[in-house]
Amino acid sequence: MSAVVQTKRVTVPEIRGAKSARPVVCLTCYHAHTARLLDEHVDLMLVGDSLGMVMHGMENTLGVTLDMMILHGQAVMRGSRHALIVVDMPFGSYEESPQVAFRNAARVIRETGCTAVKMEGGARIAETIAYLTSRGIPVMGHIGLTPQMIQVMGGFKTQGRTEAEWPAIEADARAVAEAGAFAVVLEGMAEPLAAKITREIAIPTIGIGASAECDGQILVMEDMLGLNPNPPKFVRQYAKLGPDIEAAVKAYAADVRARRFPGAENVYSMKKAG
Ligand code: KIV
Repeated sequence: MSAVVQTKRVTVPEIRGAKSARPVVCLTCYHAHTARLLDEHVDLMLVGDSLGMVMHGMENTLGVTLDMMILHGQAVMRGSRHALIVVDMPFGSYEESPQVAFRNAARVIRETGCTAVKMEGGARIAETIAYLTSRGIPVMGHIGLTPQMIQVMGGFKTQGRTEAEWPAIEADARAVAEAGAFAVVLEGMAEPLAAKITREIAIPTIGIGASAECDGQILVMEDMLGLNPNPPKFVRQYAKLGPDIEAAVKAYAADVRARRFPGAENVYSMKKAG
């Protein structure tokens, strides 16, 4: 009899089936240790390309590479057994053609073992979403504020603040859903528009700075844990790990400088003779 306990991961149909049934709990995650802590409490972990800023100190996500995504995807897969893992397709890895997108996404799936990929864009990448899903790669969409378009948008700006903008964004949401995405992130979007899209499309909407009426929510884990000194305005901080870490390091430094032993016990002390 095998002593190995296998936990079944959340599946794509389970996430899709959550529409209007139960809220989908999502967080970003970039490494094994935190994946272990999150795993039982979330439905989905996104290895987001926000790791460029959070883990690597970049100014935006444009410098993130496929190799970086794969490395962090592997770490999160090793640290988790339950949540569905989605890895972001970084800038430049999927926009050129459905074929290039398939090749790169297949590499992500093969080398990390994750279940699905996420890509930014609405109608303009619908053909690519259909190409991938029909060939076995589940895709999560991402519309509204799409950080990989920061240079074109001229900054991180909430989308849909005037009703004149709504039809194009609604068309993006429909295009992504009809192309076969199993869920779609609505980022930085006017609240009534995000709520309207949630009512209008057949797949779960996952909000970030959008609406409480979305079918699920996602936050960057470091933002909600208080590790980012300048989190986006919409983020509720559930912990203050930044200040806690600073206080702990300060106490450690004081111990070392005072020659107080910082281990729990001196495991290497000599046994007394006799
Ligand atoms: O990269 C990321 O972390 C994301 C989330 C903000 C949705 O795309």
